[in-house]
Amino acid sequence: MNFEQALARFIPQIEAEMRRVMAPPHGDLNPFYGMMHYHLGWLDETFQPVQVSSGKLLRPLFTLLCCQAAGGRPEQALTAAAAVELVHNFSLIHDDIEDNSRTRRGRLTVWAIWGEPQAINAGDGLFVLARHTLLKLREQGVADPTIFAALERLDQTCLALCQGQYLDMSFERTLTVDLKAYLEMIEGKTAALLACSGYLGGLIAMASPARAEIFWQLGRALGLAFQIQDDLLGIWGQEAVTGKPAADDLRRRKKSLPVVYALNQADRPQAARFRELYSAATLGEADVAEAITLLEEIGAKRYTEAQAKAYVEAAKSALQAIEAPPENKVSLEEMAYFFIERVH
Ligand code: IPE
Ligand code: IPE
Ligand code: MG
Ligand code: MG
Repeated sequence: MNFEQALARFIPQIEAEMRRVMAPPHGDLNPFYGMMHYHLGWLDETFQPVQVSSGKLLRPLFTLLCCQAAGGRPEQALTAAAAVELVHNFSLIHDDIEDNSRTRRGRLTVWAIWGEPQAINAGDGLFVLARHTLLKLREQGVADPTIFAALERLDQTCLALCQGQYLDMSFERTLTVDLKAYLEMIEGKTAALLACSGYLGGLIAMASPARAEIFWQLGRALGLAFQIQDDLLGIWGQEAVTGKPAADDLRRRKKSLPVVYALNQADRPQAARFRELYSAATLGEADVAEAITLLEEIGAKRYTEAQAKAYVEAAKSALQAIEAPPENKVSLEEMAYFFIERVH
């Protein structure tokens, strides 16, 4: 099965499972669930059904592909796949508050419509629903010790994610962020959940926490590549394609990888100018345009692209170390390349 075939087979199954586990308990339209369903692209802001982007569903897809590569039945991991996607969406609703982002997936964010207090609460709801959903693995015949190991890893992951978000926000206020600190930040905010997504797939297939670690490693490398590509899209991506405002990361003085690279090039005149721009209280349109040109002149874009590629190669090595029939690994390898070729 290649990546395209995997998308065709699994995306409808993931969507159906998400709708199942997120059904309002009483059936009637409950605005609390309505906000979550809006975020997932199922409803508009008046809670009428729509069909817009639900996101790429890459994490749950990764769970199913890892389960398959580990010799399991992907359908048995569907509940776990839904759980990681719920965690992802909890983190996005909160991230949009934390980053003051008014647009995601080409639409207004939950807080921009219903306000921050309701958005915090909707995110909390998704977070709890994720744990609750994982417990439903019992209905798929998964044994209790495996469910316990899954829950433990999910909780560790959520904590790592919050630690990463803490670093991401605290870095907005400093220019001294080196590569090591940057990697620690993205390891938490992004790679941890991809690693967990792979781990859960391997765990459900093999019922062995120790043997599932190799899928954690694979997901970690992919997650680092994924975030580095996201950093590139955050500066050079097309707003109409990414669904997120262009160059917002620069306006918020995010320490994305191109910026970290530029800030650590002390001996170049363009780097001094970049530091000066990044130290200003506000960045106007002309400043943003100049900052982007400086990043290109400093070689930050090229460096970042090379780093994303290096982590995909690391993922490929991790994949090679996994003992599975080659045909079960094709979709995972293609998925790895999609992570750095994607434009949204
Ligand atoms: C966005 O993730 C947040 C990051 C970790 C960079 P995705 O790009 O996977 O988001 P959706 O779900 O497809 O919108
Ligand atoms: C990604 O955050 C990680 C989480 C949401 C936890 P970012 O702030 O870098 O991602 P976007 O660009 O808003 O999707
Ligand atoms: Mg953020
Ligand atoms: Mg953000």
